[in-house]
Amino acid sequence: MTMRGKIVLLTGAAGGIGQAIARRLSHQGAILILVGRSAHTLNALARELDLQKNKGFTLVADIATHAGRESIRTALIALPQPVDILINCAGISLFGLLPNNEPEQIEAVINTNVTATILVTRLVLPFLHKHSGRILTIGSSFGGLGYPGFAVYCASKFALRGFSEALRRELSDSAVQVAYLAPRATNTSINNSAVCALNSELGNAQDEPELVASVAEKMLSSTRMRDRNIGWPERLFLRINSIFPRLIDGALRKQLPVIRRYAQSSSASEASSAPPAESNATTSTRLS
Ligand SMILES: NC(=O)c1ccc[n+]([C@@H]2O[C@H](COP(=O)([O-])OP(=O)(O)OC[C@H]3O[C@@H](n4cnc5c(N)ncnc54)[C@H](OP(=O)(O)O)[C@@H]3O)[C@@H](O)[C@H]2O)c1
Repeated sequence: MTMRGKIVLLTGAAGGIGQAIARRLSHQGAILILVGRSAHTLNALARELDLQKNKGFTLVADIATHAGRESIRTALIALPQPVDILINCAGISLFGLLPNNEPEQIEAVINTNVTATILVTRLVLPFLHKHSGRILTIGSSFGGLGYPGFAVYCASKFALRGFSEALRRELSDSAVQVAYLAPRATNTSINNSAVCALNSELGNAQDEPELVASVAEKMLSSTRMRDRNIGWPERLFLRINSIFPRLIDGALRKQLPVIRRYAQSSSASEASSAPPAESNATTSTRLS
């Protein structure tokens, strides 16, 4: 499927992976609706990509709020044609041992990554192209492998993987395709300094967001979308974990002292769960 002229609604568009996906799809000629909380970042991206050239626009909306989601619905009602592709990319992370996770942080992760993503998908569904609509949800390798220090984030991504799989089957007698993309660690600001130091000490590979964007584009362009996990040996670990989870228990048990050390040093102030001050408004910036 060519991206040229396709209407793509992308959440998390101001983030590292979101911006990389936006650049990639824009260069392929897609018409982008960029959803995010930071008007400043979205506007800079819109100028860089010259969004107005092909009737794309930005939408400042906090998807974790009713008002934010309603502003998306309002924008979709005003569209002259159906949405071709929804990319659920918005997400937040939380690194720390469970007793140190504040209840508000736990609620924010589940609300943003799971509830808000499901509600956005539900509201976009009626606006999706009946004959060729596609829904791509950005999960994580932690959506298939429970990792110490990320219990809540893992719970949210496991939930998204189940959601995507069930929805794919629910829509299997329609022309709408649904898929889940699981990146491994990627170089964006979602990972605080403790996570980066942990990955470095454990020798965990870290991809650039452009790699994730290129895989997303390949999935969206293929005739039949299939779920994808990025990275080797992550794919192997995920496979072993689904068949012999005790083997992975043993491997992670050896990493536990290192994970504990960094999880304890991961300060609550670095948790990327708070929206920027400017995001209180839900405004749509139509560029054309
Ligand atoms: N980077 C990794 O290591 C990695 C690995 C696997 C999966 N992922 C997944 O990839 C996706 C993109 O993450 P990223 O790495 O690009 O991180 P990022 O740079 O922090 O981007 C995440 C984006 O989501 C947005 N967002 C968060 N909560 C939102 C809300 N309530 N309403 C609207 N937008 C919201 C953020 O907005 P603000 O800019 O306003 O904060 C941010 O722009 C996430 O789903 C993440 O879980 C990332």
